[in-house]
Amino acid sequence: MADKKAQLTIEGETWDFPIMEGSTGPDVVDIRKLYGQTGKFTFDPGYKSTASCESSLTYIDGNKGVLLHRGYPIGQLAEHSSFMEVSYLLLNGELPSADELYDFENTITRHTMLHEQLMTFYRGFRRDAHPMAIMCGVVGALSAFYHDSTDISDPEHRRISSHRLIAKMPTIAAMAYKYAVGQPFLYPDNSLSYTGNFLRMTFGVPAEEYEIHPAVEKAMDRIFILHADHEQNASTSTVRLAGSSGANPFACIAAGIACLWGPAHGGANEACLNMLHEIGTPDRIPHYIERAKDKNDPFRLMGFGHRVYKNYDPRATVMQKTVREVFDALGVNDPVFETALQLEEMALNDDYFKEKKLFPNVDFYSGAILSAIGFPTTMFTALFALARTVGWVAQWNEMISDPGQVIGRPRQLYTGPTQRDYVPLEKR
Ligand code: SDX
Repeated sequence: MADKKAQLTIEGETWDFPIMEGSTGPDVVDIRKLYGQTGKFTFDPGYKSTASCESSLTYIDGNKGVLLHRGYPIGQLAEHSSFMEVSYLLLNGELPSADELYDFENTITRHTMLHEQLMTFYRGFRRDAHPMAIMCGVVGALSAFYHDSTDISDPEHRRISSHRLIAKMPTIAAMAYKYAVGQPFLYPDNSLSYTGNFLRMTFGVPAEEYEIHPAVEKAMDRIFILHADHEQNASTSTVRLAGSSGANPFACIAAGIACLWGPAHGGANEACLNMLHEIGTPDRIPHYIERAKDKNDPFRLMGFGHRVYKNYDPRATVMQKTVREVFDALGVNDPVFETALQLEEMALNDDYFKEKKLFPNVDFYSGAILSAIGFPTTMFTALFALARTVGWVAQWNEMISDPGQVIGRPRQLYTGPTQRDYVPLEKR
């Protein structure tokens, strides 16, 4: 690490703070001793200028629109890899050999069943419960089921918990869909791929064989790859913060699901398709673009903009290509895609969006694909959570195994009343 320093002068006194360099991307100013030395906190609501940890999982260059998982570009992984292989890569740091991949897939496959008692948890929900409410509840409930792996300081316990979470999310998500539509749950089929198994549990029925459409299986698997991990986003930071107290891993992932649900984050895919349907025909796009630019109108273009990307989200590029592939394979042509294409075209040529560097993000096109495959919009964020579980789990493992890991506990700028004495009721 170079001995570069940053200097801070406050009221005539100067302090040095070391600058740490990563393998690529911005350096960081190590301010861990700032409060002890200066009695001052930094102030960074939303953490726009704050690195919360060291990580070797995912690198994003927002200005260039670059996304790497363990150094591999997302476009290459989406083109040549599989969700299981990317999951192995995120968890272990290297692409697997054929044997390693076989063993990993085999292990995950054999954890896809849920404890029979968990089926009863679904019965407690209304049929119209949002699938993300069910995902939160059922994944949190998993923390009551695995007493054989609660010692998170034991790498073996962390490994089995990680595998259980990755394996069971498709089953939990598929069951949330089945419960909503009133069809019976289907058990996993170990002869199928991870993604094929998910499609069958979701759209298959006991009354007949379910035929997996190869183009749909490939597109779904690619969508899972595109959602697998994304540096220290809000839900990943939630999982890390929950995990920093030593909490149960299943409970930590449930916290991540809760955070992802918000429309500013993973909930944007559902909100985006609803927005595109509300816009309806392309002639109504200018009106909505004006609304998005109006400071007095809370309306925003869902699926547009990003805290880190100030260029095109590379995942959106792959997603747009995948829309065309799925539409061609299924022989569909949802006009909502045309509306999305024209909305993108108009927004990217508008000075407001150009000046604020607002581009389509991962959520802008995903809904058109998921809708064509047959998912209701309410399931979109549940699919995001299914895929992001491997990222959450990999980031959680990285945090727990970091020897310098401490409980996360931010401070504040206090602006409330200073100390005052209690006033008895009769004197108020
Ligand atoms: C995800 O962090 C991640 O990595 C997340 C994610 C992941 O994989 O984990 O990539 C997944 O969450 C993608 C983002 C999905 N959300 C949406 O599509 C919702 C719509 N987008 C916005 O709400 C917004 O762009 C955010 C929340 C994504 C980012 O917000 P920031 O970084 O806090 O930026 P901002 O809100 O301060 O916006 C900067 C400016 C503002 O104008 P000014 O106050 O400077 O005048 O741009 C404007 C905003 O008003 N703006 C938009 C806009 N997004 C930002 N104006 C209109 N439409 C939009 N979509």
